[in-house]
Amino acid sequence: MIRLRTMRRWFTSVTVIAFGLAVLFSWSMIVSSKNSDDIKRLESHASPSNGKPYSMVKPTVTDLKEAADRIKELESRLQDLELRIPKRFPEVKFLTYKDRKRILITGGAGFVGSHLVDRLMMEGHEVIVVDNYFTGRKRNVEHWVGHENFELIHHDIVNPIFIEVDQIYHLASPASPPHYMYNPVKTIKTNTVGTINMLGLAKRVGARVLIASTSEVYGDPEVHPQPETYWGHVNPIGPRACYDEAKRVSETLAYSYNKQEKVEVRVARIFNTYGPRMHMNDGRVVSNFILQALTGDSITIYGSGEQTRSFQYVTDLVDGLIKLMNSNYSLPVNLGNPDEHTIKEFATIIHEMVGKKSTITHKDAMEDDPQRRKPDITRATTILGWTPVVPLEAGIKKTIQYFQGELQRSKHSERNLHEPSFYGFTSKADYEDL
Ligand SMILES: NC(=O)c1ccc[n+]([C@@H]2O[C@H](COP(=O)([O-])OP(=O)(O)OC[C@H]3O[C@@H](n4cnc5c(N)ncnc54)[C@H](O)[C@@H]3O)[C@@H](O)[C@H]2O)c1
Repeated sequence: MIRLRTMRRWFTSVTVIAFGLAVLFSWSMIVSSKNSDDIKRLESHASPSNGKPYSMVKPTVTDLKEAADRIKELESRLQDLELRIPKRFPEVKFLTYKDRKRILITGGAGFVGSHLVDRLMMEGHEVIVVDNYFTGRKRNVEHWVGHENFELIHHDIVNPIFIEVDQIYHLASPASPPHYMYNPVKTIKTNTVGTINMLGLAKRVGARVLIASTSEVYGDPEVHPQPETYWGHVNPIGPRACYDEAKRVSETLAYSYNKQEKVEVRVARIFNTYGPRMHMNDGRVVSNFILQALTGDSITIYGSGEQTRSFQYVTDLVDGLIKLMNSNYSLPVNLGNPDEHTIKEFATIIHEMVGKKSTITHKDAMEDDPQRRKPDITRATTILGWTPVVPLEAGIKKTIQYFQGELQRSKHSERNLHEPSFYGFTSKADYEDL
């Protein structure tokens, strides 16, 4: 009985295995015939010689051209697909609805503006950039495009704009002599009509405005260093007047809106600033010298080189701007680095740091070129608790690296990024490796 049962079990198992093998065999036959059909179909379709396998065909010039065209088409499709992959953004701080501000930065695609964008984005605010790209570039802020807290608007502030914001950093204006002298009337319009538009917007929505003024309001100063109480020494019809006088009007407008319309205003008198993303061709001392040294051209000093300048690194300025905006102080505040050097000294420092064999040459002095420029930052230090912290050599090193990268750049896609930690440094150790 037991034997009979064992035999029946054995018979059932053999039948099941045989059936399984039969199924597997027929499936593999179907698949392999399908594959060979596919291969044949592909060959006859793709082969230029009516179905002959490729091994038997010698490609003609036309075939190669067709293949190259096809590769190009596929590459562009691949690029499209890559663009659809969600971008990775630096980890920004999370602010609750109560603490998060909606902040407009005019001129936010420019040198200073783009660093301010980075800092405010990292702090977790919503940032709206308005720029007409006269001297600014999308590339300076493209690493934020697509982020839920960021918006970029192509707009000329000479025309009004209607948006809802809590704070306005009004930075839009060409800043370097060749740029603001290129179209002097437009420079005046941007700093007068444009400022009226921003103050008007602030009045409508109850926002606070910070005006980016300049040390140029002091003209060619007769007082050293320049405190905010100094009224300046400006030539109203000189080549720099379109900028200097327009900025002076911009300040006057701010205080008139404050007095008449109760708009909350802050005025930053910014002194020479340098750092990554400054224009290569803006004709300013630092960019000129670095570029000339890197390309092996002679470093040009206009005049004797005994005239002095003091330069602040851009992250120091950004720090001061944010502190001023969030302070209770409404009179003008100088933001600059009082560490004063002669132009000759700058030329030597850059010459040595770049380490190329360029020479230093002298040309005639420029008209209305200020002989001394050094901020008195007592007000910023006592009222805002602000003082520049980045040493000259560390900042210059970072700027040289940026210019080197720009000179070597040969593709649009090489992003102009900075590591997020770059914006968050608080101690000396943090900026030492700048
Ligand atoms: N960088 C300095 O050393 C320095 C010194 C003193 C004052 N400032 C002031 O700081 C601000 C920023 O300077 P920067 O060095 O970043 O200059 P920048 O030229 O790099 O940036 C200015 C930005 O404003 C934009 N812009 C100009 N006109 C505009 C308009 N009509 N509408 C919209 N956008 C416009 C430009 O496209 C650019 O993006 C300026 O107001 C400048 O006067 C700068």
